[in-house]
Amino acid sequence: MPTAPAPLKMTNTSDVKMLGVAEVFKGIFVVNALVKKTDKNGRPYWEMTVSDRHGNLNAKIWSDAGWWDRSTPDLESKADMLSEAGINGLKGKVVGVSGKVADFRGQTQYNFNAITLLNQEKYPPTQYIANSEIPLPVLAERLDSMIESCRPEIRDFLKSVFAGETGSAFRDAPAAVSNHHAYAHGLLEHSLAVTDSAKAMAKTYADIYPTLDIDVVVAGALLHDLGKIYSYSMSPVPEITLPGAVLDHIALGYAAFDKLASEADLSQKLRLEIGHILLSHHGQKEFGSPVLPATLEALIVSAADELDFKLFCWKDAVKDLLPGQNISAFHFAAQRRFWRTSADSQDETATGE
Ligand SMILES: [Fe+2]
Ligand SMILES: [Fe+2]
Repeated sequence: MPTAPAPLKMTNTSDVKMLGVAEVFKGIFVVNALVKKTDKNGRPYWEMTVSDRHGNLNAKIWSDAGWWDRSTPDLESKADMLSEAGINGLKGKVVGVSGKVADFRGQTQYNFNAITLLNQEKYPPTQYIANSEIPLPVLAERLDSMIESCRPEIRDFLKSVFAGETGSAFRDAPAAVSNHHAYAHGLLEHSLAVTDSAKAMAKTYADIYPTLDIDVVVAGALLHDLGKIYSYSMSPVPEITLPGAVLDHIALGYAAFDKLASEADLSQKLRLEIGHILLSHHGQKEFGSPVLPATLEALIVSAADELDFKLFCWKDAVKDLLPGQNISAFHFAAQRRFWRTSADSQDETATGE
């Protein structure tokens, strides 16, 4: 008599990416995005992005997949078919999926063949949302000491910004919907990394450029992406808002900064200098900045912002490399493949082998 196959172990998104072609998996994830499409035979299929605390996974769901509803306790023991409206409403919900790894023209493809909408009280979406790897109290302490390091006028202004509702929204916000720091507290993590790096650069150049104002660098770096608190929402997954889509974070951030600066009676000089950093931080007009960095402080913040973004892209690209692989898949946001050099190859270089 044939033995039943061993039940599948639950996998997280990182485990799934380690599987080979034809291997099967199952897991519990939150749905980040779901787009209905039509194949060349006119049949519907869906592209779904799911996430858990380990990362994201993009998958295809073909028309023969099973969609099941176990969202309420009376459906726990059995599962009804999920309606089309139910399928379309899955964004932000926790689902159980089973799937298989496939190869499509040399690219790994993940196919989900059964999706079950789970009881959201039993499986709360917040438990499957990625957070910053750095605990919030650690980030909050770094923010406080960075603010305390500034001279009184800038320190008191930053305190007033980060004390109220703006501050709590800033602590919770992601830094993006995808691409970089797209998780809860990601904006704070990114802003602090940019500030640390910008401050270190400013200190390095302070002797050569004596007018360089390190406290303006700190204020500009902490606030450069302020507009992202209005551009993105966590509902419960990172999502772009209407103002974010049509006004973008640079304009939104400058408007919010100008209002906060006016309420705090910040000097005209600082309003211009810090406002200029917010508007110019993307470094190029084609990247959304209406003006190019024109001050020492704005040049430094813009460089630090670009560096933190690219370093994050490197980390994101190499984290799913299999042992023995060192070149990443093409990373669209950074427009390149990344290279993970290993300790071994450094030794080889060092020994000239
Ligand atoms: Fe930005
Ligand atoms: Fe940024």
